[in-house]
This record gives sequence, C-alpha cells and structure tokens, in this order.
Amino acid sequence: MLRTHNCGGLRKADEGSTVTVCGWVDSYRDHGGLVFIDLRDRYGKTQVVFNPSQGEEIHALARSLRNEDVIQATGDVVLRSDKDINPDLPTGEIDVRARTLTVLNKSLTPPFEPGTQELPNEELRLRYRFIDLRRPQLQRNMRLRHQLSKATRDYFNSLDFLEIETPMLGRSTPEGARDYLVPSRVHEGAFYALPQSPQIYKQILMVSGYDRYYQLARCFRDEDLRADRQPEFTQIDVEMSFVTMNDVLETIDGLLAHVMRDVRNVELALPVPRFSHAEVVERYGTDKPDLRFGMELVDIGEIAARCDFGVFKKTIEGGGRVRGLNAKQAAEKYSRKVIDELTAFVGDYGAKGLAFFRVQDGKLDSPIAKFFSDEDQQAIITSLAGEPGDLLFFVADQCGVTSAALAALRNRLGKELSLYGADSFNALWVIDFPLVSYNEGEQRWDAEHHPFCQPVAEDVSLLKSDPGKVRAQSYDLVINGYEAASGSIRIHDPKVQQTVFDLLGIASDEAERRFGFLLEALRYGAPPHGGIALGLDRWVMLLTGDDNIRDVIAFPKTQRASDLLSGAPSPVDDTQLRDLKIKLDLPT
Ligand code: AMO
Ligand code: AMP
Repeated sequence: MLRTHNCGGLRKADEGSTVTVCGWVDSYRDHGGLVFIDLRDRYGKTQVVFNPSQGEEIHALARSLRNEDVIQATGDVVLRSDKDINPDLPTGEIDVRARTLTVLNKSLTPPFEPGTQELPNEELRLRYRFIDLRRPQLQRNMRLRHQLSKATRDYFNSLDFLEIETPMLGRSTPEGARDYLVPSRVHEGAFYALPQSPQIYKQILMVSGYDRYYQLARCFRDEDLRADRQPEFTQIDVEMSFVTMNDVLETIDGLLAHVMRDVRNVELALPVPRFSHAEVVERYGTDKPDLRFGMELVDIGEIAARCDFGVFKKTIEGGGRVRGLNAKQAAEKYSRKVIDELTAFVGDYGAKGLAFFRVQDGKLDSPIAKFFSDEDQQAIITSLAGEPGDLLFFVADQCGVTSAALAALRNRLGKELSLYGADSFNALWVIDFPLVSYNEGEQRWDAEHHPFCQPVAEDVSLLKSDPGKVRAQSYDLVINGYEAASGSIRIHDPKVQQTVFDLLGIASDEAERRFGFLLEALRYGAPPHGGIALGLDRWVMLLTGDDNIRDVIAFPKTQRASDLLSGAPSPVDDTQLRDLKIKLDLPT
C-alpha cells in the first residue's frame, strides 16, 4: 500500500504516530513559512503541514503544489492548538506534519474545483464527470447507492430469493416505450432489442420453477426524458410464484423497512398503507399523491349548482365538477399577482381559470364572493375546514381537468408553503388500478400497465361487457409523490390472456410474433405468479433528497440522451456499417 491511512481516519488518539497519506490537493495555503495542504480522498480531508525546517527541497516542492495534484506525504500526527481546531471536520483536531513529499501526479488546472460550494453548470460537470465525481455530494450519493443495493441483496438473499441475470440482447419487451435496437451482424437485417425490463424472462423463470427471483437489472427505454427518467436505468426486479397480491406487497414492505433501517436508521411503520386508485384520484387528483402533507381536494358541486356564478353553475349543468383545496394561512402570502401566476400554471393542465377566496371571519373575500349567498359562503368554509387567513382555490371543469390541475397546484403549494420537512419520507401503495383505459385518439382500449396483468377475480366476467370497470391486480408504490415501483399478479391462464389480448385488439398472430415465446411457456405448466420492479435510481434520489436523477448515477446521460464524457452516441466507421449491412441514407 502506498498509504497507511486514508484522509478521513486520523483522530486525536493517533497523536505521535508516523503515517503516510495519499490523496488530491483540495486547497493550499502558503503562509510564507508554513504551507498548509488540505488533502482529500473519498473518506475525508486531512490537513498536511510543510515546515521549512524539514528541508529546502520538500518545502519548495510543497509550494509548487496546485489543486487536484495527487501526492503522498509521510509525517507525524500532531495535535492542533485549541484555537486551530476545526469542529466541522472529523479530522479537525490533528495535522500531519510532513517529513517527505512525493508528487504522484500533477493535474492540469481543473475546469472547476470539486471542493467549492458553488456548482458549475451541469453541462460542464457532465463533460468533466471524473472531476464532478470527486465532489463530496456525489461521493455520498454513490456510497448511498451502494448501501441501498447491498441492503436490497441482503434482504432478498435472506429470504431465499435467487439473483438471476437475464439477457441484454433479446427481443422487444412490452413496457410501451421505444426500444434501443442492436443490429445483428450474423443475421443480416435482424435486430436485438435491449430490454425495457426483464418482464418476459422473469415470468419464464417462474414457469421453470425459480419461484423467488430478483435482479438489479439494467433497463433501456428510448423515451422523452424528464428530471426523474434516464434512458438507461436500474430496476430492483422481483418475481414470485404461488403468491397473492398481498404476499408481494408484504415482501416489498419488508424490503422498504429493511433498507430504511440499514441505510437511514429510520424505523418505517408497517404495513405501508394501501389506497385504491379510485380513492387517491378522488382525494388528491392523481395516482401518485405526495402524502407528506394533507390538503385534500374537496368537491363543492352541490353548492356550485345553486350559486349565481355562471362558470360554476354551467360546469355542473354540463356534467363537470367544481373541486378545490385549502391553502392554509396563505391569504396574506399570496398577492393577486402570485394568484395570476398560479392561474397561468393550472392553465398548463387545462384549467380555464382559478377561482379563489380568502377566508375572513365567517365570510369569503373574493371578486366572485358576491355570487354566493351568506349560507353558501359558510357552507364552502365548512366543506374546506376554512379558518381566517386561509386561501381557497377552485377549478370548474371536466373531472379529469379538475384532477390534473388541482393535483399540480397541490404539489406546488405543498412545496412553496413548506408543508413538509426536507428529510420526510412517505410511502403508500396504490392498488385496484383499472385494467385498461380507453384511448380516444386511437379508439381502442390500452393496457394501463402491460397486457399480462391479472384482472381482479370478481371483475373477470366484465372483461367483455364493461372493460372500463375491470380492476387489475396491479399495484404501484408511491414515495413522496413519485412512482417508485410498479407490478402486478400476472395472467397464467392462456384463455384469460387471450381474452385480454382480444380486448386490447392484439391479434393472435401479432401476440405470437411479439410475445410468442412467453405464451408458449405459459402453456407448459405456469404457476400462479406475480412481481414488481422498483426504480433503484429514483429510490436513491428520494433518499438523498436530490430532485435530479443524474446526481445518483455515476455516468448519466443528458436530457437529449447523450453522454457528454465519452461523446456517445457517435458515428461509426464505414467498415462497421458494412459488416452490419447498414446503409445510412434512409429519407426522413
Ligand atoms: P415500470 O415500467 O412501471 O414496470 O417500471 C418500474 C419502475 O422503474 C422505474 N422507471 C424508471 N426509472 C428511471 N428512468 C426511467 N426511464 C424509468 N422508467 C421506469 C420507476 C418504475 O416504477 N416490468 C414492469 C414491472 C413489473 O410489472 O414487475 C415494469 O418495468 O420507478
Ligand atoms: P371571469 O368571470 O372569467 O373574469 O372569471 C372570474 C374568476 O373566476 C377568475 O378568478 C377566474 O380565474 C375564475 N374562473 C374562470 N373560469 C374558471 C374555471 N373554469 N374554474 C375555476 N375558476 C374559473
């Protein structure tokens, strides 16, 4: 070893020992006589001091050091005087008084200092990711990611799950995004698809009797990216045989509790609460509600129907809804100008306006309050548990628009009004999803999740007569308003599968072509089975408190799916294309 200690480990008790430390120069201060170097590695920082009395040569070398040079220094651990102690650093009570110095490697002047608080723009950080990854925040994230993966493996291993790898080069899978394709050289004109998930393979593993499977699986989806999505991401992928939905949820409850205890030292209250899809959409306007705070949506349809405000009245007459929420104690905080901004904001979700009322003693204050009788003003206040100083917002529209607009408004207000702490963590299950939803544009039924979800037993009879009413045995785990996991009990009966394909308009030959190998396997003794996949990157992101998924992935891609560090994707040599029999001049 080139070192006896890392840069985070030395303490007061090490006083007097001779040590060798290695690392990167985080900062240097040249006080004419003494040279102070903050030496950094992933374990921490240690101050190394060079004194002219150690010899002209070493001292001159120390004075020539610059940020990010890599050095090795040997010296004695000495205690700092009281006034020099740095209580913010675990190593803040000692110095290493250097006797030798070796410059292991010089660094070019870095484009930004990993030690500074001020972040450079993200493009620069991604271009020089090797410097960015030296930042303590990213090092903490990588460590947390590792701990989470390890805790996950420990948990499943302890329950006798087998970790089994499934192919990267395979056939298109049914998650609904665009595939990344890989051309085959041997089979001219044929392509592999990188997996969007291991879905089909894990179901086949169940047919083969591997009744408890998990994998930390890399998945690839060519879709439009957002802050919580990457084209290449990792799932904690799970599948189990001879289980009911309850067994899967309990298993994942256990995983959450184990990981939270191991990684965060937090006891998660179990069971994680379960809500039906219909209930969360009614109470929060979304199937991914952030339950770190309340602020439920309230329907005032009855009052709206009898009031004199035309917009409300007509909306109800037209079969729409009037729903609202209470921003507690926000009346003073939100000026007319801010409310105009919020009106434009809900406009992005289709709302044609945003009605608002400030609650005063027993009355409402608003340009439209005059359209409501005293009794109805009182009834509105009561419905929304209004207190003086509260600000009530309402959207009148078709049900879907009121949900989307108010859910977005609720999230925004929750954040702006600081209704939850930075560290708070809230998990819930959403169950009883509809199996299918009607796609007006294409005039057909689409699977809500994927075409292999088992319908709820008592709803199977509705598959033909009233498909919109059929609930799926599928479930989402929602953490702090993000979809953290998603899964279902699968169809193992080929007849039910055929009925679902018929409903989705997937013709037999198309089904055979797309998933034939799964359908065939299901005919050879498929056990009842079900599973789930958790987004590992998203989970790490929620635990670190970052709202950018790129900060929890060592080498992420940009919004435009490029890797700025390596320059991927990039053109390839003509000879490679020739081998693959690929010509690049297809008209667009
Ligand atoms: P689903 O498509 O819902 O289900 O994916 C499961 C979980 O993976 C995460 N996730 C993503 N994370 C980062 N970037 C992305 N582009 C991305 N897409 C999805 C989410 C999501 O909840 N085979 C099924 C699971 C099953 O039924 O067992 C599946 O893949 O957190
Ligand atoms: P108007 O009569 O269009 O001037 O609107 C009066 C108030 O009602 C304004 O605050 C509008 O934002 C609000 N408003 C208009 N349409 C709607 C709607 N569909 N839902 C809720 N509020 C609305």
